[in-house]
Amino acid sequence: MADQNFTDAIMLLRADHDEVKDLFDQFEDTDDGDEKRRLAEKICNELKIHSLIEEEIFYPAFRGVLEDDMLDEAVVEHDGAKLLINDIMDGVQANDSVFEAKVKVLSEQIEHHIEEEEKPHEGMFAKCRDTDVDLKALLEPMLRRKAELSKQAESEGLPPAEMSEVQPEAAH
Ligand SMILES: [Fe+2]
Ligand SMILES: [Fe+2]
Repeated sequence: MADQNFTDAIMLLRADHDEVKDLFDQFEDTDDGDEKRRLAEKICNELKIHSLIEEEIFYPAFRGVLEDDMLDEAVVEHDGAKLLINDIMDGVQANDSVFEAKVKVLSEQIEHHIEEEEKPHEGMFAKCRDTDVDLKALLEPMLRRKAELSKQAESEGLPPAEMSEVQPEAAH
């Protein structure tokens, strides 16, 4: 993990995006039910970890720097995905094959969300790069949190994704 030599926080987040896109492709390409279940579980875990490091560390670093609307929309999109993620995990455990359709819908939602973050010029990451926030300094705490959550996923498993409440805008 840490030896992948990310130079800053955005490089790490983009690598996560590529990894999950690849997992969705593998899911699409296999007809093996066990493999689909394994991949669905992996996708859900990776997305839970990714959204946590964004919500706990990355997005807050840009509060008051980027427009609130952009950050709020990202969090609302995460919440939409979390509903499906928790549903998919229930389906996988209950051996209910309808989870396969939900993974497809999740992949479309995630594709849209990644586009919002990665879009050249007007995407969130491009806007982040235009600020004075130290993207290198953010990398270390994000790597640390990711390692901790990955370890938890492997040992006791991650709890269901929790909805983050977008705070009603403070009067300002
Ligand atoms: Fe992301
Ligand atoms: Fe995100």
